[in-house]
Amino acid sequence: MNVEDLRLRLSEAGQDHLLQFWEELDEAQQAGLYTELQAMDFKELGLFFQKAIEGFHQSSHQEKVDARMEPVPREVLGSATRDQDQLQAWEREGLFQISQNKVAVLLLAGGQGTRLGVTYPKGMYDVGLPSHKTLFQIQAERILKLQQLAEKSYGNRCIIPWYIMTSGRTVEATAEFFTRHRYFGLKKENVVFFQQGMLPAMSFDGKIILEEKDKVSMAPDGNGGLYRALAAHGIVEDMERRGVWSVHVYCVDNILVKVADPRFIGFCIQKGADCGAKVVEKTNPTEPVGVVCRVDGVYQVVEYSEISLATAQKRSSDGRLLFNAGNIANHFFTVPFLRDVVNVYEPRLQHHVAQKKIPYVDSQGQLIQPDKPNGIKMEKFVFDIFQFANLKDVSDVPIQCEVSPLISYAGEGLESYVADREFHAPLIIDESGVHELVKNGL
Ligand code: UD1
Repeated sequence: MNVEDLRLRLSEAGQDHLLQFWEELDEAQQAGLYTELQAMDFKELGLFFQKAIEGFHQSSHQEKVDARMEPVPREVLGSATRDQDQLQAWEREGLFQISQNKVAVLLLAGGQGTRLGVTYPKGMYDVGLPSHKTLFQIQAERILKLQQLAEKSYGNRCIIPWYIMTSGRTVEATAEFFTRHRYFGLKKENVVFFQQGMLPAMSFDGKIILEEKDKVSMAPDGNGGLYRALAAHGIVEDMERRGVWSVHVYCVDNILVKVADPRFIGFCIQKGADCGAKVVEKTNPTEPVGVVCRVDGVYQVVEYSEISLATAQKRSSDGRLLFNAGNIANHFFTVPFLRDVVNVYEPRLQHHVAQKKIPYVDSQGQLIQPDKPNGIKMEKFVFDIFQFANLKDVSDVPIQCEVSPLISYAGEGLESYVADREFHAPLIIDESGVHELVKNGL
C-alpha cells in the first residue's frame, strides 16, 4: 500500500477527509478502504459532480419543462388497439427476427430495491402468485416459450440471449440464485451477467461521504449506468459476435413483461427505428409514471415529478390526456445504435441529481442519520439517450391471469386447455392442466 501517494491524490482532489480515521482502523479495514479509494478516479468524479450540479441549477432556473413539452406525433406511434390490422404482421416480423437469432433481451437489475423493502435482488421476489414463481423465473420461462414459438413459426432452432445487468449490491446473490435454479432451464452460456458502476454519494459542496470510518457511501449510477457498463464489459461486442440486431431492455419489477415481445420488435423493425419505447395509456393525471414526449423538439421521458398538475391534466379534443404515453420502461434499441451510444453519446450525458438523506460519520466518528437531505446521489437514466434516436412508440394492453409462461407466451395455445369447459377463478394453467385454486384448496 502506498498510502502517501493516495493521500496526495486525495489532497489534490479536496477529499483528504476520507483518510481522517486511518490511524484508528485495523489492518483489514485499512486494506479495504485503500482498495476502494485506489479504484476511484477523483478527477472524473469532480467533473461529474460539477456538470450534474450545473444541470440541476440550470433546470431550476429555466422555464419549467412542462411549458416546452409536446405530445409524441401520431406517425411515430403504433397502437395495439387502434392498429389491430397490423398486429399480425408485426408479430410475424418479430418472430422471424427471433428465429434468425437476431433478438436479445436485457434486464436492468442493478437497483437496490429499497422501496420494495427487501435486502435481496428484486428478481428473487415471490410476487404472491399461486405458484410462488419469482420474477426471474417468470421471465426465464417466457424466454424459453418464445424460442419455441419462433421455432414453430419458422422451423429454425433459435436462441434469445439474456443479458442481465446487476450492480455491486446485487451481483453475487443474483448469480448464486441462477446457479441454484439451474438457470431455469436456459443454457448458462446464453445468460450473460455484467455489472454496472457505482458512484459515491457527495455532500452539496462536493465532498465524498463516508458511511463508516472505513467505508464510502456508494450507490449504483442509475439505470442509465447501462451504457457505461456495456462499454466496460464488451457487451456490444458480445451482441455483435452473436449476430444480434435488436435488443429489448426492461426493468426487473414488471411481472407482466413480454420479454422480446414480437409485436413490439416487429413494429420497430418495420418502422426502421433505432430506438423504441413501449407505453401504456396514462388515464389518470396523477398516475406516477413518466411520459414519453418531445421537449424542444427532442424525444425524452418527463418523469411525473417534473410535470405540473395543470400540464398533466391537459386533455386533447377526444377527451384523453394530452400527455398519455405512459413510460413502462420497455425499450427497443438496435445494436448499431447502442454501438454509437457507447462510442459517442454516453460521455455527453450528464448525471441527474437526487437530493437524499444520506447516513454519514461526522468528524467525531459518530454515525448520523440526517432528517433532511444532506447530499446528492448522481444517476443517469436509461431513456436519456432517446434524444439521439429516431424513436418509435408502441402502446400495449396488459394481460391479467396466471398462465404458466411455459405453456403460453401471450395467450396463444390455450384452446386445448379450456375449450368447452367451465372454470371458476382464481386459476393456474400450467404444464399439468387447469387448476381451480378454491376448489382444490390451494
Ligand atoms: C421507471 C421509469 C419511469 C417509469 C416507471 C414505470 C426510469 C429512470 N424511470 O421508474 O419513467 O414510469 O419505471 O415502470 O427508468 N435500476 C438499475 N440500476 C440502477 C437503478 C435502477 O438497474 O442504478 C433498475 C432497477 O433494478 C429497476 C429499473 O432500473 O429494474 C427501474 O428503476 P427505478 O429506479 O425503480 O425506476 P422507477 O421509479 O420504477
